[in-house]
Amino acid sequence: MLDRVFQTENYPRPFSFNRDVANVFDDMAVRSIPFYQEVQSCITAWAEAYSKEESTIYDIGCSTGTTLALLCQDIPWHLDLIGVDSSQAMLDNAEAKLAPFRIKNRVSLQCQNALDMKFQDASMIICNFTLQFIPVRERFTLLQKIFSGLKSGGLLFLSEKIRSAVPAFQETQTYIYESFKRKNGYSQNEIERKKESLDNVLVPLTLTEQYDLLERAGFSTVDIVLKWHSFVSIVALK
Ligand SMILES: C[S@@+](CC[C@H](N)C(=O)[O-])C[C@H]1O[C@@H](n2cnc3c(N)ncnc32)[C@H](O)[C@@H]1O
Repeated sequence: MLDRVFQTENYPRPFSFNRDVANVFDDMAVRSIPFYQEVQSCITAWAEAYSKEESTIYDIGCSTGTTLALLCQDIPWHLDLIGVDSSQAMLDNAEAKLAPFRIKNRVSLQCQNALDMKFQDASMIICNFTLQFIPVRERFTLLQKIFSGLKSGGLLFLSEKIRSAVPAFQETQTYIYESFKRKNGYSQNEIERKKESLDNVLVPLTLTEQYDLLERAGFSTVDIVLKWHSFVSIVALK
């Protein structure tokens, strides 16, 4: 379904992953997250390298199950997949998307705040554009939980929107990002409304702050696998 959530005055303020958003989320993600599909392919490629038969993979903020479905489709061995999301509306849509894959893989979907989860024995934990929605003061705790839930040699795949520490660059990156959204069919009005609704809900860190959090949580081997202006995908090894 086409994302028209911000076309009228009737949009979520503050932003939330409610049923209206969940029902158009797949379209919203492709049109609002640069290189969304490429990031998904990257996740599958890293999952192939870091998992084996019966490996456990968590997807924190799995939304409508796009990543989990691709893992089921593209990884040739059986996986134990656990999707976590605090929005039941998202998980209802994930249930439908994942139904055809449940024969081959164990897929469990849990409606929970990621901060209340206990991750264990994971070969990989995916956090694709979700940490940015966790209150800043709680991100370190979540990263610590992720670190302790990974097996030694396990991988965190983290994608985030980031902000530049240089105000002039931040302004340019905002302009570039809004041009990207306009090219994808969003009007300036929709862009402004969504920006207002996301204020204080999606709070980006700088790349240095993100690296610092990862390091303090225990991740000393970290690298960038994809970056487009203010969007970054990072891998971090336990
Ligand atoms: C931008 S979406 C993630 C996109 C998804 N990973 C993908 O690749 O399509 C962020 C998701 O995180 C979920 N979320 C936000 N805060 C959360 C929390 N504290 N615990 C669990 N899920 C959360 C939202 O409900 C939403 O589905």
